[in-house]
Amino acid sequence: MIIKSLKNNIPLSQYIDKYKAIIEENLLRLLGPSEITPVTLYQSMHYSLFAGGKRIRSILCIASAEAVGGAIGDVIHIASAIEMIHTYSLIHDDLPSMDNDDLRRGKPTNHKVFGEATAILAGDALLTLAFTTLSDISVLSNIPPEKALHVINEIALSSGHYGMVGGQQIDMESQGKRIDISSLEQMHMKKTGALIRASVRSGGIVGGAAPPRLLALTEYGENIGHAFQIADDILDVEGSIEDVGKTIGKDIAQNKNTYPAMIGLDESKALEKSLIDRAIEALNDFDESADPLRMIAKYIVERKR
Ligand code: IPE
Ligand code: IPE
Ligand code: MG
Ligand code: MG
Ligand code: MG
Repeated sequence: MIIKSLKNNIPLSQYIDKYKAIIEENLLRLLGPSEITPVTLYQSMHYSLFAGGKRIRSILCIASAEAVGGAIGDVIHIASAIEMIHTYSLIHDDLPSMDNDDLRRGKPTNHKVFGEATAILAGDALLTLAFTTLSDISVLSNIPPEKALHVINEIALSSGHYGMVGGQQIDMESQGKRIDISSLEQMHMKKTGALIRASVRSGGIVGGAAPPRLLALTEYGENIGHAFQIADDILDVEGSIEDVGKTIGKDIAQNKNTYPAMIGLDESKALEKSLIDRAIEALNDFDESADPLRMIAKYIVERKR
């Protein structure tokens, strides 16, 4: 799929590849040298951090900063910390006590390779490393302290029981039961939407967004965050294992609450499209520097993985 920017005609894939390389280089530096002991813990963290994630949250953070006149150098460490939190959430999500998945990003899940105890600890350590990074004065020296604290607070809120962890708890508790649509929306907004919203807002805050612009970015982030999990649910129904890199059909097998299960595939696709339209509309007052954000919104529902 080639999604082109309105102005520069740059394929989104080129934009993503460029930033992915920078993010991955930075993640490796932040993780530290491979001699760090215990070696197994390092290897387990490294395995999942470099298993082939799309880096969409980090790229959103950078694209948001750029949309309001900021630069990648201002947000690269924040974007990297968000990627660490995301990776930790996936390691734990795949555990036998949670979704019990064997395949992630086309590879055996972390606990399949390193065992459950190490997988839990690698997740813990990645979450901690994210906040080590975010609180390191030498790393964030280019950001005014008040802004840095604001962003750290938002990322923490979106990751914990108000956000992602809370959403994961709802997911676990509601498995095998039927919840109503508004609870389903709450679950999606927390387990996936919150960190995506925080990725977009962090970029905007550090990039220097004035309040109305930050509001617009927030609306964009909430809508794509919601759409992202609907797209993930749809891929679990009609994706291919080769493209998605995850076992397909697990949501139905585990009696999960998803949009396709609740409203059907066609309505789920109509809903994700309307959320993406709303996200793009929220950026109406932005110029072409927000084109990457517009392209990413479309990509979220057109992606095959
Ligand atoms: C998967 O996220 C988990 C969800 C929150 C839906 P991604 O689809 O962003 O996973 P990677 O990082 O690209 O593997
Ligand atoms: C997970 O949702 C969301 C997280 C916060 C990790 P899913 O359980 O649907 O994600 P996948 O399909 O395993 O990637
Ligand atoms: Mg899950
Ligand atoms: Mg899962
Ligand atoms: Mg899923």
